[in-house]
Amino acid sequence: MHKITVAGTGYVGLVAGVCFAEMGHQVTCVDIDENKVALMKSGVTPIYEAGLQELMQKNYAVGRITYTTDYKSAYKDADAIFIGVGTPEQPDGSANLSYIANVARQIAETIEKDCLVIVKSTVPIGTNDKVEQFIQDFLVHDVKVEVASNPEFLSQGSAVHDTLHAERIIIGTESKWAEELLKKIYKPFHIPIVSVNRRSAEMIKYASNDFLALKISYMNDIANLCELVGADIQDVARGMSFDERIGGKFLNAGIGFGGSCFPKDTKALEYIAKQHGYELRTVKSAIDVNKDQKTMLYKKASKRLITFNGLKVAVLGLTFKPGTDDLREAASLENVPLLLEQGADIFAYDPVGAANFAKNFPEGISGRGSIKYVEHIEDALEGANVCFIFTEWGEVKAVTPDMYKKLMRTPLIYDGRNIYGVDEMRAAGVEYHSIGREPALREGLKESKSFELQTVRF
Ligand code: UDX
Repeated sequence: MHKITVAGTGYVGLVAGVCFAEMGHQVTCVDIDENKVALMKSGVTPIYEAGLQELMQKNYAVGRITYTTDYKSAYKDADAIFIGVGTPEQPDGSANLSYIANVARQIAETIEKDCLVIVKSTVPIGTNDKVEQFIQDFLVHDVKVEVASNPEFLSQGSAVHDTLHAERIIIGTESKWAEELLKKIYKPFHIPIVSVNRRSAEMIKYASNDFLALKISYMNDIANLCELVGADIQDVARGMSFDERIGGKFLNAGIGFGGSCFPKDTKALEYIAKQHGYELRTVKSAIDVNKDQKTMLYKKASKRLITFNGLKVAVLGLTFKPGTDDLREAASLENVPLLLEQGADIFAYDPVGAANFAKNFPEGISGRGSIKYVEHIEDALEGANVCFIFTEWGEVKAVTPDMYKKLMRTPLIYDGRNIYGVDEMRAAGVEYHSIGREPALREGLKESKSFELQTVRF
């Protein structure tokens, strides 16, 4: 078993740290945020992830994991230091590497024995060569240090499960020593390990995420075409899914992808390509389709209604997907301001994301409209003129077609997640609009003459 330090206790760092401890390693998690460290020491997770808190408490109780802000003691005699700090998107789409650089410098100034530094954060290809050089340049003690790439593929909401039961572990190393050490660290996980060089590992992360983003945008693009030609995207996806070369996952058309990874990593790879004088047309199309897709329902509703002014608008779901309180790049963030500008009185429901959302949109009058957060879906629907569904929470899926009919003033639904069957809603007397399944937009799109199947254009 090894002495492992993890820098950064966000989704990537904390989950990795806790899972390493669960596998028997001795783990120290470092974060600069004292409040967060105090919280974790008291057994509380700063992020919402199924099963995480239980594993934190269990491993803390037996002394396999500790939390600290004191990076010096955490780094100095570690066998391996995993870096899981953020690489947020900058205005031009590039990744901000300052957090990685800070950690690299602290490591260089404190390590007192040979050490492998492993970067889990998603970084532009070639970054880890620079991180290694940077650490060498600032080293204080005469020790061997090497940098490896070990990208993370966990999804929010199932992060612990994804880490303990990953389909593969990618390790990118430049020496046998680094490769063997990482293989030993991951041995107890019993997961296939793909060992490549450092730059390929960095690229695998971007190429995987961007492929999935492209898959979703492709389905959204086809969904929009389905509306024009009278096909049903869910039937189309089902038909496609039987082909094992395509696979059945990530074929759900909807209101576009959000979250911390796909939006950021598509823009980052496009930027990297541009820096090398290459236009990455496939990924650029995925980005373009996604941008339009996020307000697709709002556009549909605007055509249907004369105005939103003074209407009670129920919004069901605010987070970018179910199972997380994360709002990054969520469709709600695009649509709510548009609705408020148009004078809508929004009643928003989200089982865990409402408090975060209220930080950006405090309850009360906002612009020409207003926003109120409700604890029960019924309170959002009661007397509403229109309802938007942005996240497919179980609580939202549990609402029956009859409930819309019974509770709403006018049962008019815009569903960004294709939760319901078109026929069941019609049978219940609900006017139901979704993505890629009914020809409602057909005339609108034809009129605008702007429809272009972007993902198939190249
Ligand atoms: C993703 C990757 O899945 C993960 O491997 C990577 O490490 C980080 O990014 P995450 O962002 O947590 O994980 O969520 P994911 O479940 O992949 O969903 C991303 C977005 O795509 C969500 O907004 C989701 O609603 C949307 N999506 C997903 C679709 O619109 N259709 C689909 O078929 C699947």
